[in-house]
Amino acid sequence: MMKLEEFLRLNAPEELGTVAMVVAKGSLAVSEAIPTKAGLLASVNPSGERQKAIDVFSNDEFAEALLGTGMVEEVASEEMQEPLEGKGDVHVAMDPLDGSSNVETNNPLGSIFGFYSKRLPASGRSLLGAMYVTYGSMLTITLSFGKGVHRFVAVRDEAGPSSFELSGLNLRLPEKPEVYGFGGSRKEWTPPVREFVDTLEGRGLRTRYCGTFVGDYNQVLSRGGIFAYPQFVNRPQGKLRVLYETAPMAFINEQAGGYASDGRRNVLDVEPRTLSEPSPAYIGSAEVVRDLERMVSAEGQN
Ligand code: F6P
Ligand code: MN
Repeated sequence: MMKLEEFLRLNAPEELGTVAMVVAKGSLAVSEAIPTKAGLLASVNPSGERQKAIDVFSNDEFAEALLGTGMVEEVASEEMQEPLEGKGDVHVAMDPLDGSSNVETNNPLGSIFGFYSKRLPASGRSLLGAMYVTYGSMLTITLSFGKGVHRFVAVRDEAGPSSFELSGLNLRLPEKPEVYGFGGSRKEWTPPVREFVDTLEGRGLRTRYCGTFVGDYNQVLSRGGIFAYPQFVNRPQGKLRVLYETAPMAFINEQAGGYASDGRRNVLDVEPRTLSEPSPAYIGSAEVVRDLERMVSAEGQN
């Protein structure tokens, strides 16, 4: 068995290893806090969603830990209007609690982190690494620093604190795509998105959807297929935020042999002009996402 600390010491640049380790520790604190902090606060986050105590807790927990490393120049978060400034070279963009509307239903939640080399906002081409956490039946960390995708699972040691043990080295999307999950509803999707979804069952995929980007993507990584929060007729920019959500996940997905598109181009090439700029996102097995991109761009809808 290999622990996360050891893996990072051997495989990550020092700064990123340190930063990844504090994220892993923070995720243990967030996981423990979920049951007690699921009540609602009255404040509103920049995207207009109601902020829950657990959103605030996870934001503060991760932000403080990241800035405390002395290696992070800024932390931008989906939950904050302005980035927090620190000292260091790494620029972190995070979604500290992805899918927090899943709290009530106990579907999986997640956290997403992008480690950028440049002042934010920046495109996914400036990513040095990315990681995501799943708070599901297991607490897992999936990460990439540009040399493959690796997964760790939190294991509770009765005598001491939980540790993260390697559970998957060099994860790759399977050859045969199996599942699809699309956010929103059929009548909201643009016609080419609808037409594309109609083709999926014909090619052997079946629907599976949990309502958290991290959870929905995580199963695509294991089973192959596609997750999308697509373009809507009345919401052409989609919902997911490039900097905090789609670019870091696209980075990991590409490292696992997949492809992510905004409908026209690689998500990693999208240059967000603001910190919370959204874009449509189609992510998963390369051949499936490329087919979607061909269909969507052929009909000139994007
Ligand atoms: O971060 C936004 C998010 O919570 C994602 O995790 C999820 O994929 C999506 O929103 C679900 O959106 P909706 O509530 O519109 O179905
Ligand atoms: Mn989110």
